[in-house]
Amino acid sequence: MTGQWARRPGAAGARPPQLDTFAALEQPGAERRASGALPRETNQMRAYTPETITDAVIEQMSTTSDPRMKQVMECAIKHLHAFAREVNLTPAEWIKGIEFMTKVGQMCTPARQEFILLSDTVGLSALVNIMHDKTKVEEATSASLLGPFFRENTPQFAPGEQIAKRADGAEIVLFGRVLSAKGEPLPGAQVTVWQTAADGRYDIQTDASTMDCRGVFTTDAGGNYLVRTVRPLGYYIPLDGPVGGMVQAQGRHGMRPAHIHFLISAPGYRELTTALYIAGDTHLEDDVVFGASGDLVAEIKPADAGCPIQGLPSINFDFNLSRESMADKLTGRVGADPGQITAGDVKAEKPYGGAPPASAAAEAEKKGGILAGLFRGR
Ligand code: BEZ
Ligand code: FE
Repeated sequence: MTGQWARRPGAAGARPPQLDTFAALEQPGAERRASGALPRETNQMRAYTPETITDAVIEQMSTTSDPRMKQVMECAIKHLHAFAREVNLTPAEWIKGIEFMTKVGQMCTPARQEFILLSDTVGLSALVNIMHDKTKVEEATSASLLGPFFRENTPQFAPGEQIAKRADGAEIVLFGRVLSAKGEPLPGAQVTVWQTAADGRYDIQTDASTMDCRGVFTTDAGGNYLVRTVRPLGYYIPLDGPVGGMVQAQGRHGMRPAHIHFLISAPGYRELTTALYIAGDTHLEDDVVFGASGDLVAEIKPADAGCPIQGLPSINFDFNLSRESMADKLTGRVGADPGQITAGDVKAEKPYGGAPPASAAAEAEKKGGILAGLFRGR
């Protein structure tokens, strides 16, 4: 996925040369046939063309029983094929894409989710997030990316406790309220916070076995939360893997503006995944993962008289939660703890390919011959 792909002649605008060749083969009298093959008049089997193969695939998949899966896959195939036709994808480029996706998969561990990073850097996570946010039933604080550094089982803290193991003189306070869309305080709401340490890295990037700069707080009777932390820094997303290679090949800086993540939940309300972006950061407008938005920019005030912990700079931000709809219960978050995604990943015990499904075996049995023997032996 380098710049040379985009510069290939015929990549945009004019009809790609290879398609013209196919079109010529479809002209009357043009015969595309290997020596020894049946002549067209006696061979009734269809020949796929770049124009007909998409419908053939969709037709074969039409037996998909799950209607939503059928819809999603049909649409994915249409767009995938259209993309390959539009750029006139060559075999060398196709295998390069396969190699890239293979490396992305190989980079994934319980502590690292390179596929989420890929989705983030091409704006897919932000798009899914924005679309999902529009479905909430009430006006509330907008969502932002969960990102790949969220972790389940974050420790609980008392109001005002420091979440950073080393504050290093850069302490700040976060305070405000969790409210309904109508402005009613929500006592007992869970406020999960996570961010980089003062060195600009998440705990999971330095040592996956310890938790630092993350914690869960519970709002008091007035819906108030109070967190003591350190000033977050803008940082590079992990650039040492295939996604980093792609970002660098595209000449992008690869940085996120300084931010603090929040995951806020209260019974009966839609869970809010969001982040506060620090005012004045130079990358607010060109976040490499398209997560920052104007309504989530927060100022660190040097001496806010309303701050419950005096003598420290602070951010004051109220969050509004929308009531939860029935649909919200099914849609899920954009993102997950990487450890949760890989948790069910049991290593295959069978050799490559495994045994054919029972239906295929029964079919072969009916037909007899060498194939039936092969199935019987399994
Ligand atoms: C983050 O906010 O931590 C993040 C989000 C997407 C990609 C990389 C990092
Ligand atoms: Fe982050």
